[in-house]
Amino acid sequence: MCGIVGYIGTKKASPILINGLIRLEYRGYDSAGISTIENDGLSVMKDKGRVKNLYNLEGIDDLEGTVGIAHTRWATHGKPSKENSHPHMDNSKTFSCVHNGIIENYNELRNFLTDNGYTFYSQTDTEVVPNLIHYYYSKDTKNDDLKFLRAVKSACNDLKGSFALEIICKEYPDNMIVVRKDSPLVIGKGEDENYISSDIPAILSFTRDFYLLNDLEFALLSRNEAKFFDKDLNPIKKAIKNIEWDASSAEKDGFEDYMLKEIYEQPNAIRETIGAKFNGNSKCEFDELNFSKEYLQSLNKIYIVACGTAMHAGLSARSTIEKLCKIPTEVDIASEFRYRDPLVDEKTLCIFISQSGETADTIAALKLCKEKKAKTLTITNVIGSSITREADYSIYTHAGPEIAVASTKAYTSQVVLLNILAIYFAEILGINSNMILELKKSILELPKKIEETLKVSEKVKDFAKKVYNEKDIFFLGRGIDEVVAREGSLKLKEISYIHSESYAAGELKHGPIALIEKDITVIGIMTDSKLVEKTVSNLQEVITRGAKTMVITNQDIDSSSFEFVINIPSTHTFVSPILSIIPLQLFSYYIAKEKGLDVDKPRNLAKSVTVE
Ligand code: AGP
Ligand code: GLU
Repeated sequence: MCGIVGYIGTKKASPILINGLIRLEYRGYDSAGISTIENDGLSVMKDKGRVKNLYNLEGIDDLEGTVGIAHTRWATHGKPSKENSHPHMDNSKTFSCVHNGIIENYNELRNFLTDNGYTFYSQTDTEVVPNLIHYYYSKDTKNDDLKFLRAVKSACNDLKGSFALEIICKEYPDNMIVVRKDSPLVIGKGEDENYISSDIPAILSFTRDFYLLNDLEFALLSRNEAKFFDKDLNPIKKAIKNIEWDASSAEKDGFEDYMLKEIYEQPNAIRETIGAKFNGNSKCEFDELNFSKEYLQSLNKIYIVACGTAMHAGLSARSTIEKLCKIPTEVDIASEFRYRDPLVDEKTLCIFISQSGETADTIAALKLCKEKKAKTLTITNVIGSSITREADYSIYTHAGPEIAVASTKAYTSQVVLLNILAIYFAEILGINSNMILELKKSILELPKKIEETLKVSEKVKDFAKKVYNEKDIFFLGRGIDEVVAREGSLKLKEISYIHSESYAAGELKHGPIALIEKDITVIGIMTDSKLVEKTVSNLQEVITRGAKTMVITNQDIDSSSFEFVINIPSTHTFVSPILSIIPLQLFSYYIAKEKGLDVDKPRNLAKSVTVE
């Protein structure tokens, strides 16, 4: 994880770098640091904790350099401390480097460098990098324009693991080198300047023109040029990609927190994701896909693989795919899937969902499926993200940048896109036309229904005020509502730090009911008319044992025994999670606010998990 940012241009670098770090802070906030090229050599300023500690450091305003790199850390190796903060320098203070990722063979490299006279001052895996670069640099007798680049390349040859690196060198004050492998990094092109960042939104206010690096491609940057090289240092050409997101979509727009803004952006995120893929009667179209009927008929399984909330989106759409396309569908957690030798072959279609497109386990799972000859399709929110560069096909949610660590609009956009994908497959297969018509109508009505659902906000807030001090909260549901219970429970844990569990309501009697005691809070989700009676009975069982209940439903139920009932609009069961999750997103948000917590940057978490 972590965020890295860089600048090489004609302006003072430090304010640009700090601005970038603030925007990237959602990726990690254990420490922050900056290194610039000053008249008298390389400067490094860093401190433990948030970026605000860095910009309060004495002397930060005196940095005049117009070339610099910066880092906000999510510690993997070495505790959060000033010594372990990035940037790290080599012993001779010739190179300064920031790193996102993990150097898996750092111990071996550290021993090698120690034997060669190098000393280490931190416990990080990263510190081997600038020293290894120095090692190769000092051995190179040719003093030309590419000496710095050759040293970085030789060092990268020795690195195992994942890395996005920015390196500056006091002997090349008009250059910066960046390289990536399995960790994100983009280069933004300006007028006589280049910006570097872990993600696009952080530098969108400066440019919309981006270069995207593939694994083990090097960029040698100067103020007015970006030269690219492959892993053997052969020069390569890169096209500029223009990004449509506007800068304001990465701002808070008057909302107190990104999470709340993103919850309220859901009508538009869904509208944009539906886009022009179909209208009332037309067939569903995906410009990016070209599946044939024969191929779809040959499939014996679809696997959906993802992590966290994205995995919940997969679970939410499993029965749509099975019912509409009649193809058995399994959903798995990427970190488990990749190590359990799954039964995947050319008759399996593997779908990977990732908001960021950078989740290490999801990318590794995709690579595994490719090795096993399956076709791979990704659903992501970030154009040009790492996962899209590995997959056979990529389709996009158009949710706009999601900044809050807790995913909201990306989840609902993923659910709608998976439903549209299922329709697309079923139309190619030529089956279930009536069901398709019904579902399409419901999908087109979603943006309006989300707007209506958002009106429950005040009521949810009242309940949140009553229960925000609880130690445990339970979520129950059946069928598709069970998936929403899982997602609601994850949201609550993530940002309110309240212990919570979700259960299939029918499982309650098989163990968990032992945990129910007087005044415990239980939340029930009931949107499936076929299952509502059953869940009501399960809720009665917990009420009998003293529980307080909040119910989210679009059904006509006798509400007298429930403490709070949140009514939401009814829709097709396949897409009901898109509406029923909204009160739960708001619930966790208001609880976290009542507790005075940092909603957008919950402890120990980072937005994209780019390490295993
Ligand atoms: C969601 O609220 C979480 N922050 C987390 O579970 C997230 O969904 C997961 O890490 C997957 O991220 P991705 O979609 O970027 O791959
Ligand atoms: N592994 C490095 C560290 O722990 C970088 C972690 C990160 O990506 O923030 O310092």
